[in-house]
Amino acid sequence: IHLELKEDAADKGNYEHFMMKEIQEQPQAIGMLLGHYLQEEGKEDMQKLRELLSTCSRLHIVACGSAYHAGMTGKYLIENLAGVAVEVELASEFRYRRPVLNEGEVVLVISQSGETADTVAALREAKVRGCRTMAIVNAQGSTIARESDLVLYTYAGPEISVATTKGYSTQLVVLDLIAVELASLKERITDAEKNKLHGELMQIPAKIRQILEHKEKLQRAANECAGKKQVFFIGRSLDYTLALEAALKLKEISYIHAEAYAAGELKHGTIALIEQDSLVVAIETQQELYDKIHSNIVEVQSRGAKIFAVGFEAAKKEKETLELEYRIPEIQPFFAPSLAIIPFQLFAYYISVAKGIDVDKPRNLAKSVTVE
Ligand code: G6P
Repeated sequence: IHLELKEDAADKGNYEHFMMKEIQEQPQAIGMLLGHYLQEEGKEDMQKLRELLSTCSRLHIVACGSAYHAGMTGKYLIENLAGVAVEVELASEFRYRRPVLNEGEVVLVISQSGETADTVAALREAKVRGCRTMAIVNAQGSTIARESDLVLYTYAGPEISVATTKGYSTQLVVLDLIAVELASLKERITDAEKNKLHGELMQIPAKIRQILEHKEKLQRAANECAGKKQVFFIGRSLDYTLALEAALKLKEISYIHAEAYAAGELKHGTIALIEQDSLVVAIETQQELYDKIHSNIVEVQSRGAKIFAVGFEAAKKEKETLELEYRIPEIQPFFAPSLAIIPFQLFAYYISVAKGIDVDKPRNLAKSVTVE
């Protein structure tokens, strides 16, 4: 495949904002990425990955912002699929707190730009401490790409909008590939199961396209919610890791106060904030937890909250009343975050537009934080 950047890649084309262009580019970007890693060209990278991880007793994922959220999803997936222990840490914490790093452990940094100051410093710290390192990076030739022992590129192309979309979603897919590779290396899955999981990953682009075809539903939801002062995002397991990113998207470009909570933690404090007409976004893609998230929905509804449910159709309970809902196509639940993030990117985008905010350049934020 052709991975060179086209000259017009930094052009908005027919889109009003880079963010919408980049949202729409996700099926193609993920398709290219999978084409690379699952075909001949990517074999060498996968072989190097196996070598690096063959003796890895614990993986430390270190990143900032959305890349940190991708890392959280990666942790849940890698521990579940491959049974390898994973720590995830913010680079700004990792670099100063002297974490315990043992021999045989690998540090994986994730960065779209490859230039985030804290992430670069964390990578250097890991090297000084004798760890082997790897990176998931988008910007080719960036500092992190140059200084890591192994680089897995996300091949997302240039991302201009400050709020990351395709940068993040391609990181998720590289983490999916790592989890599957590691599971096979540790003989937790057979070759047939590995092929089946790869087959599921290959469906992501087409299923994202299906979501993008129903954008107007999210625009309607956004118009209804644009006046909110705060939004609570709840989920469990992988849905919690996705909630972190969904809330960040909303904060960044709509200036609405949004926080993600592990749904089981609600009763330990946050539920005190729920009042009449509070908006609670509930994510439901993990079948074994449908009943649990459902009881959380009932708990907040009985305190007057309005619900916006995003998840699989099968998650919906009979006779449930939901003020807003958006159903994503079915996929192997491990990979649900790659689909479930799309409605939240669009939701945040449309609220931002409705409020007249500069979508691509929200106040106080920078695309790449290269100073502390
Ligand atoms: C900035 C961007 C975020 C990004 C974070 C980490 O805050 O606005 O979108 O997630 O930096 O950036 P990186 O390039 O390291 O992924």
